[in-house]
Amino acid sequence: MRYLVTAALPYANGPLHIGHLSGAYLPADIYARYLRLRGHEVLFICGSDEHGVAITFRALAEKTTPQAIIDRYHPLLENSLRGVGISLDYYGRTSDPLHHTFAQKFFLRLMERGYLEAREVEQFYDPVAKAFLPDRYIVGTCPHCGFTEAYGDQCEKCGALLSPTDLLNPRSRLSQAVPERRGSTQYFFRLDLLVPALRAFVESRSWKPNVGPVIEGWLRQGLAPRAITRDLDWGIPVPNMPGKVLYVWFEAPLGYISITQKWAHEKGSPNAWLPFWKEPDTRIVHFIGKDNIVFHTLIFPAMLIAADEGYTLPYAVPANEFLNLEGQKISTSRRWTIDLNDYLEKAPHRIDELRFVLTALMPQTKDRDFTWQEYEQRIHTELLANLSNLIHRLLSLLWRQGQQHAVRPAPHLLAARADTAREMARLLEEYDFSGALESLLSLARLANKELTEASPWHQPPEKAYEILLGFTDLLLALGTLMEPFMPVRIAPSLRALVGAPLYAWEALEKPEPLSSELIMTQAPQPLVPKLTPQEISALRGLLPATPLPASGPAQPSASSQVPTLAIEDFQKVRLKVVTILQAERIPKADKLLKLRILSDDGEHTVVSGVAAFYMPETLVGKQAIWVSNLPRKTLRGVESEGMLLFAEDTGGQLVLVSPVERCAPGSPVK
Ligand code: MF3
Ligand code: ZN
Repeated sequence: MRYLVTAALPYANGPLHIGHLSGAYLPADIYARYLRLRGHEVLFICGSDEHGVAITFRALAEKTTPQAIIDRYHPLLENSLRGVGISLDYYGRTSDPLHHTFAQKFFLRLMERGYLEAREVEQFYDPVAKAFLPDRYIVGTCPHCGFTEAYGDQCEKCGALLSPTDLLNPRSRLSQAVPERRGSTQYFFRLDLLVPALRAFVESRSWKPNVGPVIEGWLRQGLAPRAITRDLDWGIPVPNMPGKVLYVWFEAPLGYISITQKWAHEKGSPNAWLPFWKEPDTRIVHFIGKDNIVFHTLIFPAMLIAADEGYTLPYAVPANEFLNLEGQKISTSRRWTIDLNDYLEKAPHRIDELRFVLTALMPQTKDRDFTWQEYEQRIHTELLANLSNLIHRLLSLLWRQGQQHAVRPAPHLLAARADTAREMARLLEEYDFSGALESLLSLARLANKELTEASPWHQPPEKAYEILLGFTDLLLALGTLMEPFMPVRIAPSLRALVGAPLYAWEALEKPEPLSSELIMTQAPQPLVPKLTPQEISALRGLLPATPLPASGPAQPSASSQVPTLAIEDFQKVRLKVVTILQAERIPKADKLLKLRILSDDGEHTVVSGVAAFYMPETLVGKQAIWVSNLPRKTLRGVESEGMLLFAEDTGGQLVLVSPVERCAPGSPVK
């Protein structure tokens, strides 16, 4: 089978951190390495995403040019990725002329196919910064909860999805100026025309449990035409439209294709990219974080379908959730982050250890938390006391008997090794990387137990040696079983110690000895040295004692610091159980539902921004929690009395909060 494995193209405006690594790059690498061992044809690519308004704003803030920003970060990103052992076949960049030309041609192709439509739009413009403002760069007061720092696309406080026009007192995050509305022509991609084809595509693939519902949510919400051009000067110029560039999320995914083309060019066979993109049996697997799901599962496939040039659609998009750090959201602006380049500098000999811990803690279906304590503990109790200790005990005992040893596996150890290899393969193919690692650790635990029980050190020499030979096959196998996870130092060192090659995964799955002998060429050293207090304190020094305060609204990332709420303040909030009597959509407001609710003092109307998540009729009859003493607000012509509570699930899904048992309408919640 032929595979193209990709990992999200990182923005070239900042370093990569451990959250990026565990979210996309590490799973992609483990997968690519496994596929190669399985004997598949694999091309693994990535590259810098060098456009987008964030890069422009970063340059403005640093009083430099976007070009200077990307030229600083592009090499840093590649070095970090290679430094942590990401086995990329090619790392490209979207500022490459080849990419520009390709994206422009693709744009013209969609135009020719009738999927682009010019429309006059009103946009927000910052008259002081002299720039059109993306929704997220406008802040103002949330109409739902009154939060004064809500963004133009979403209120981070109450979770409501917003448009900039919903904000009260809007202002620009760049200059604090009041944004003006200016007319401008933009091209829209007619996603709406592609819904049936997308449905068919979505149904033809299987999605991870954390991905499927997000796709469903978007499809249910309905796919409207999306603007794919912007009035900016940094980016890929729109053909024949001076002053406009392609929207970064339109052109960056095309980078997967152009970077494959670039790889082919560089290796001197310009057509070598074709099988990866034009053969229907190629499996294209995109590794990304959850914030990128819609672009990879719907918009990019829609673009490929619309082009009608025989492009292969993704086989899978195994998105991960987010990794938190010591209980808080990772935030670059608040320096609450562990950047890969810093880790590489502080602990250049501990790369596999980091990979090990991040695999064990991988946020595969829900957000996970990284702590230094967990790092230390997992290295000591799992990597060192289990895996490394097993290997070291065996090798030290064998070394005393000589250098050359027969491979005479104990039958149940042989079976366990083969079963584990099969089990790991199954889990890896389901993108359950921490599960596969756990399966490897169980094998080591089993072997450790066997060794302790057999106690060769209490046996007469001949019997003792026979026991040890029962483990030689396992020692040969471990150097390959560990390779996808710990390929930088640990797996290769083991192979060097026991003279083992990298075996084909298939061989590991067969309960037959891997070789007839094991040859040791050097005295064994523990594979994983204990972490010293100095190492630990140097690593802990990478994080400040607490996150820095968010420095005002000019910072792009949301504050995750939670202020303490006085009980008297909480008691001001009047929460009541209500029953939903009616629910209907509000014309021309695709995010809003108008709900009629029953409390103890009669019926009320509330407006909730959950149309993307609930069919109105499914809410009728349910009970909900109502915040009853908020000021009345008029939303799209409908007066809302208070609001209902919804939980925001991973992936941004809103879920109705309801009492577990039915209560009389109006029951206070306290
Ligand atoms: N730069 C984006 C991010 O970091 C990912 C781009 S992936 C691509 O979120 F598909 F657009 F290339
Ligand atoms: Zn709000």
